[in-house]
Amino acid sequence: MLVSIGCICVLFQLALCLPSPKVTYNGHKVLEILHKTEDDFKKLLSMELKFELDIWKMPKHVNDSMYVRVGPQHLEGFVNELGSLNTVVSTLVEDVQQLIDTHSSPRIHQSHSNRRAVNARSSGMDLNSYHIHESINNYLAFLTTQVLPNDVVATVESLGTSVEGRNVQMIKISSPYGAPKRGIFIDGGIHAREWIAPATVVYVIEHLAYNPKNDSNIYSLLSHFDVYLVPVVNPDGYEYTKDVRLWRKNRNTNSGSSCVGVDLNRNFPFQWNPAVGGSTNPCSDIYSGSYKGSEPETANIVNYLLNHGSEFDAYLTIHSYGQMWLYPWGYTSALPNDYLDLDAAAGDAVAAIKSLHRKKYTIGSSTNTLYAAAGGSDDFAKGGAGIKYAYTIELRDTGAYGFSLPTSLIQPTAEEFLAGFLAFAENIFNNGYGK
Ligand code: ARG
Ligand code: ZN
Repeated sequence: MLVSIGCICVLFQLALCLPSPKVTYNGHKVLEILHKTEDDFKKLLSMELKFELDIWKMPKHVNDSMYVRVGPQHLEGFVNELGSLNTVVSTLVEDVQQLIDTHSSPRIHQSHSNRRAVNARSSGMDLNSYHIHESINNYLAFLTTQVLPNDVVATVESLGTSVEGRNVQMIKISSPYGAPKRGIFIDGGIHAREWIAPATVVYVIEHLAYNPKNDSNIYSLLSHFDVYLVPVVNPDGYEYTKDVRLWRKNRNTNSGSSCVGVDLNRNFPFQWNPAVGGSTNPCSDIYSGSYKGSEPETANIVNYLLNHGSEFDAYLTIHSYGQMWLYPWGYTSALPNDYLDLDAAAGDAVAAIKSLHRKKYTIGSSTNTLYAAAGGSDDFAKGGAGIKYAYTIELRDTGAYGFSLPTSLIQPTAEEFLAGFLAFAENIFNNGYGK
């Protein structure tokens, strides 16, 4: 009797799409795989769907390592098939669930509706925790009600909604001093599981809002630029990671498939091409969507940048992990004509990052440094919206914690990014905003 009720509940959950049960990763391993030939690499990639592989890191070249998560049900089959290739395989993470349980803390909801700023230098936002989307939106709204130090002004605008109807909010931080101003656009949370990205954007918002005269670099930044920040581009996916911690895509349904979600960073409408680092299969984690710009979360950013691109000198999109400061293109190994300008500005950024906590960030074009992947937001910002300095920043770490970056590392990660960002903005201002 009890068993049959349980079954009915399971059926009901599927039918009514009730909150999905938590997915766990017990027995999932992350393997490090070294391949010797391009041909073997292609064969490796072709195993993605069959063995439900989740690629955590792509190799940069032959003999560079690839990190792949594989579930216990596929482990034997996958390792067997690897045996027919010329690869060296070792285990990087013994048990992914254990990694998550040990280092991931749940996200919190901090109410800002009735609060008053704790003091003139802080909103009281907990910067050492991961927050749910609602908490972040409440925080943005709260800032607009505050009289901020040094006449800094925060305004919030909705860029549109997500598939499930969540509001994608953008906050503009500006100051009355200095003029004329150019704009810098920063977003985070395109990929659901990269929690450190929204947390870092929130950290930057708090510091720009409350610190300008304490920190002369922030004062200088806000004298030259208005900064526009979107902490969570993909709120449905971000919320879904409460139950499915390693979800990457958005939460759209796909017609003709029971698989959910599009990889938003393969969906942007500039040189869109599923054959280059994406997929035409809705079950893939890198599904490019059924056509370019098909997703509402993509359109939110695209429409805003198309309407305002000429006001912006820089577009920074925050991801994790890998410690990289990447510039276009992601769709080709060719470089933009002005890549030396982008390379130099990135150089100032990573030097500032390194001087803070000695962390090394790699610089280069996405294709040449990481892997080719068309339909990224950075390529669109540069090629489609005409924003000169477009980058993807992969924050900490290099794989030890991966997506489960402990909360104790939010602050050092975010603070070194802010230092890098300030040095970067200084560079592009000194270069006449790149004109
Ligand atoms: N890790 C990011 C991704 O896979 C890197 C994107 C780099 N940019 C690009 N246009 N491929 O989406
Ligand atoms: Zn990402």
